[in-house]
Amino acid sequence: MEHKITEMFSEETIATRICELGRQISKDYEGKEIKLICVLRGATMFYAELAKRITVPVYFDFISVSSYGNSTESGGNIAIRREPMEDIKGEHVIIVEDIIDTGNTLSTLKKLFLENGAASVKLASMLDKPDRRKVEIEGDYVGFTIPDEFVVGYGLDYAQKYRNLPYVGKIEV
Ligand code: IMP
Ligand code: MG
Repeated sequence: MEHKITEMFSEETIATRICELGRQISKDYEGKEIKLICVLRGATMFYAELAKRITVPVYFDFISVSSYGNSTESGGNIAIRREPMEDIKGEHVIIVEDIIDTGNTLSTLKKLFLENGAASVKLASMLDKPDRRKVEIEGDYVGFTIPDEFVVGYGLDYAQKYRNLPYVGKIEV
């Protein structure tokens, strides 16, 4: 079944905003190196574009998490399904996510990386839905703040579909 999807942010709009975020990050991390950790799978497109816009040294790593919930809502229990490949002790970590919704995923990961000895942990997210927050957490680098709508595209899925759309759109489900 195909769904009705209404564009919210075009590919060009996203690209422009990512350039701004990249510039800000490059400035904030001047003289440092960044361990850029992608939260699979939704953040992949944003991650790749953001990494290209950062001018300080960047090291890639990937993490996969699962949360117990239904297809449009993450549950509170976050399980790590795939650990980063390298130790993050002493590293300046930026966790890159597609969207901050309840905040469960990023607050869990931030806590975990700090416990594991990261020198610093900041959060970059393409989108933020603050109306839905259940735990207190804020993104350090946020692309766009959106109302409480379910969105797909540019990495984001609905039941694993629509991740490859080059724009972000609101889906009617
Ligand atoms: P949180 O742990 O509730 O902040 O949820 C974050 C995760 O929920 C994201 O990484 C997405 O996988 C998923 N999610 C939340 N809102 C949306 C949405 O509007 N579209 C697609 N996925 C979403
Ligand atoms: Mg996700």
